Amino acid sequence: MSLSTLQEQTGEVARRLLENRGAVALTTVAAFALWTIKDFLSWRSFGTGGTPPTVQGYIKIRKFGLRRLLARDDLRDPSPLSNEGPKYLEITIPPRKGGHPNLTHWTLPQRQYPEAISPRAHERLFGLMQKLAVEHPDILDYGLSKTEGGTGHAIYAKPELPTTNPIAKKIRCEIAHVHPSENSLHVHISPRDAKEIIAAGWGVRFSVQGLAPPSWIMVYAPRNESEVDIIESIVKAAVGWNTGVKI
Ligand SMILES: *[C@@H]1O[C@H](CO)[C@@H](O)[C@H](O)[C@H]1NC(C)=O
Ligand SMILES: *[C@@H]1O[C@H](CO)[C@@H](O)[C@H](O)[C@H]1NC(C)=O
Repeated sequence: MSLSTLQEQTGEVARRLLENRGAVALTTVAAFALWTIKDFLSWRSFGTGGTPPTVQGYIKIRKFGLRRLLARDDLRDPSPLSNEGPKYLEITIPPRKGGHPNLTHWTLPQRQYPEAISPRAHERLFGLMQKLAVEHPDILDYGLSKTEGGTGHAIYAKPELPTTNPIAKKIRCEIAHVHPSENSLHVHISPRDAKEIIAAGWGVRFSVQGLAPPSWIMVYAPRNESEVDIIESIVKAAVGWNTGVKI
């Protein structure tokens, strides 16, 4: 083979490789775009909580996700929470059977994949906020969740109470709400109690650190009545932390 033929052939191979690279790049971009559109639609259909269900809203939660990825923050790790301060839980939280449930991959809304729940447990869970508000009208308000853009009902500490925890005001005094799509909750509880709950595999820290107090946590969905008992103890402990009144 002459040198010029070799040069010609090498040139041809290089040209083809470059062409292919263009095709590969185009395919990659198209696949990414398709994946993003599918992911946006599935995010919207799951219910977006307090984030507007728009492209802008989606870009915002994706940015939060990127920030968390870079921070390498494992939300199931309870160690960033303080061991100091009061404890309101009156039970020892038993380890959650089956461990942590599968969580959705979006930072907001912070959700798990739904698991089966008995009808009676479902009824008790969705009546819990109202029941506590009716039993303690002197310290609690009841209404749609402000942190979730009105998705589900919440209980609030009365802001004018002299015993109300000043930290509660950082999250508009919202104490707890249940998510109608998959039965998990968000709860603002004392850091020590939050630490115990997460260590028992019953919850995770909030997905966007800095947006809420550090002990605003997600608590996993109960599956039967004995697990609703655990949830009830957790929400009562949260009432203590926010209102300064043990119930
Ligand atoms: C979580 O996801 C894995 C993989 O898809 C699946 O095998 C497992 O059963 C799921 N766990 C629960 C509790 O749904
Ligand atoms: C409640 O559900 C958990 C998880 O499935 C299970 O381990 C536990 O035995 C159940 N308790 C009752 C009283 O059914």
